Amino acid sequence: MLRVGVLVSGGGTNLQAIINGIQDGTITNTELVTVISNNKNAFALERAKKHGIEALCISPKDYETREQFNDALYDVLEDRALDLIVLAGFLVVIPEKIIKRYENQIINIHPSLIPSFCGTGYYGLKVHEKALERGVKITGATVHFVDCGTDTGPILLQKAVAVKQGDTPKQLQQRVMEEAEWKILPQAVTLIANHKVRVDKGQVLLLEETSC
Ligand code: GRF
Repeated sequence: MLRVGVLVSGGGTNLQAIINGIQDGTITNTELVTVISNNKNAFALERAKKHGIEALCISPKDYETREQFNDALYDVLEDRALDLIVLAGFLVVIPEKIIKRYENQIINIHPSLIPSFCGTGYYGLKVHEKALERGVKITGATVHFVDCGTDTGPILLQKAVAVKQGDTPKQLQQRVMEEAEWKILPQAVTLIANHKVRVDKGQVLLLEETSC
């Protein structure tokens, strides 16, 4: 069983998609061990508790230095003996020590087709505002492995979503979540859990055809 920890900061709809996938059997060979948020009020923590999953708050605010926070996060991840860390809307920069320890074992969901509308400052609604501002007709979501850059790691899955004339950033955000994020994130987890993903020279090789 793949031991998974999910890191969140907000509503947790992507977390919910993973919980649902495990429950309905579309994600196999996977145990959701812990959910960690930097924000004690994140609704994602309630979702975890409701399903009997450990829900922890580890916030930089509760530590005197950033290093102490980094160490606390590192120690909890180690203690849970995780095989995969999923960043599902986690708004804290992952310390280098964790990225190096978990090389090709951390994935992130980003709400655009990388390399468009990504990098520093591109998070939340901003991504969709920029896509609309540029007038793209297609956007989407990307699941990628996390390396030391911002949204620069190997791309695992992508799914395109049509932009509709007159879309507001909020409407587009919702459509990208429904049509892409909630599909490709659970799919990425089950592919990894079933040993269908290999990373070679910064590129992801899928050992199974996907419907994305
Ligand atoms: C999603 O749009 C995801 O792409 C981004 O943060 C958002 C998290 O939403 N990284 P939720 O908390 O899963 O509802």
